[in-house]
Amino acid sequence: MAKELARTLKGDEVICLEGELGAGKTTFVKGLAQALGIEEGYQVRSPTFTLANVYPTSRGNLIHIDLYRVRDLELEEFLGEGIVAVEWGEGLSLCNLRVKIEFLEDEPEGRRIVIISE
Ligand SMILES: Nc1ncnc2c1ncn2[C@@H]1O[C@H](COP(=O)(O)OP(=O)(O)OP(=O)(O)O)[C@@H](O)[C@H]1O
Ligand SMILES: [Mg+2]
Repeated sequence: MAKELARTLKGDEVICLEGELGAGKTTFVKGLAQALGIEEGYQVRSPTFTLANVYPTSRGNLIHIDLYRVRDLELEEFLGEGIVAVEWGEGLSLCNLRVKIEFLEDEPEGRRIVIISE
């Protein structure tokens, strides 16, 4: 699904990823990075100790932010610098797209992913 979504991106969107612990937000960003052609030597990892990870791709920067610990990060400085993917982006109003990931009750390996254009 990340691959499908990547195809529609212009390069300056803010994508807010919503879902509980372990829902698959980072995995979705990995899929985006792969589809955008992440440069060799870069790996998608949770931005735990950094505020934002920037991955160069063949379609511009992919900026990966995780608001789990930092709730008051100034996101504005990243706008226009690339595609911005924000884990724990539930409360944000500047999202162009929302990716909602849910666990399935009867299928631990399954997920329901809903993408909403704002
Ligand atoms: N679409 C999916 N279908 C099935 N399993 C998935 C899917 N996406 C992720 N997973 C699995 O769920 C686990 C957690 O994934 P991930 O780290 O991406 O979640 P997260 O939402 O980023 O977690 P956190 O809340 O800690 O940031 C991993 O074991 C991953 O392989
Ligand atoms: Mg994560």
